Amino acid sequence: MDYEVELDDQPGRGQHEESLTVRYPDGRSETMRLHEYDRVYAIPGLYEEVVHNRLKCDSPRVLADTLVAACERAGDDPARLRAFDLGAGNGVMGEEVAGRGVKVVVGSDDSAPARDAAQRDRPGLYEEYLVGDVDDLDDLEGLVRERRLNTIICAASLGMGHITAESFERLWAPFPAGSWFAVTLADANAEPGGSDFGDYLARLRGGGDDTEILADEPFRHRLTMAGEPIGYRAVVARKGLPKLAR
Ligand SMILES: C[S@@+](CC[C@H](N)C(=O)[O-])C[C@H]1O[C@@H](n2cnc3c(N)ncnc32)[C@H](O)[C@@H]1O
Repeated sequence: MDYEVELDDQPGRGQHEESLTVRYPDGRSETMRLHEYDRVYAIPGLYEEVVHNRLKCDSPRVLADTLVAACERAGDDPARLRAFDLGAGNGVMGEEVAGRGVKVVVGSDDSAPARDAAQRDRPGLYEEYLVGDVDDLDDLEGLVRERRLNTIICAASLGMGHITAESFERLWAPFPAGSWFAVTLADANAEPGGSDFGDYLARLRGGGDDTEILADEPFRHRLTMAGEPIGYRAVVARKGLPKLAR
C-alpha cells in the first residue's frame, strides 16, 4: 500500500455520510465517502484496509458461518450450494463462503470498478460477474437454470440506498425449492416497518410465503469511524416446497 488513510472520526455521522482521505507520498490526497464505491474499489487494498482492518467488519465471516451452520443443521451439504453474490463488491463475502466449500458462481454489483477490483484482487473466484442493478438483469430464470444456482448471498448491500427488497424478491423468485439465501442488514432495517426488507422478513415470519427463516443472529457488523458499534443481523432462509391449499 503506497498511501496513508485518514478516517473522519467525527461522531454522529450516518453510514452513508462517513468519509476518508487517502494521502499519497507525493503530497496528493483525495477525500471520498466510504459509500462512493467506484472510487474506493479503484484503489487497491483500500476497501479491506478501511472496512476490515480499521473498522473491524465482521459481516462476511458471521454470514458465512451462519449459512453453513443452518445448512448443516437442516441436513444439507454446503458443497451443494451454488451461489449468486448480490452486491458482491470486490469479493470479500464470496471468498469467505468459498473457504467453507460453497461454490461461488455469479457475482453482481452495479459498480463496474467493483467487478474490476474483484477480478484484480480475487481472480477466478466468480465464473461470471455481472455489472448493473439487479433490476436490469435480463432473463433471471435462464441464469438461475443455466448456472444451476441455489443460493443468494448478500452482505451489507440491502437498504441505505443500496438494493431494495423488491429487487431482492425478483431475483429470489426463480430460485428452485431447497434454495438458500443469506443476508446481513442493519438491526433497525430488519424490523417490520424499519425498511422494505424488514417488512419482507415479517411476511416470511408470518408464514405467508414458501420461504422459511432458519437463522436470525444479531452481531456487531463493524465500528463507525467514530468507534461506535453498528448492530446488524445475519438472516438465513430456505425456500421450501409450495404449501398445499387447504
Ligand atoms: C458495503 S458493500 C458490500 C460488498 C460485499 N458484499 C462485501 O461484503 O464486501 C455494498 C455493495 O453493494 C453494491 N450496490 C449498491 N447498490 C446496488 C444495486 N442497486 N445493485 C447492485 N449492487 C449494489 C455496492 O456497489 C457495493 O459494492
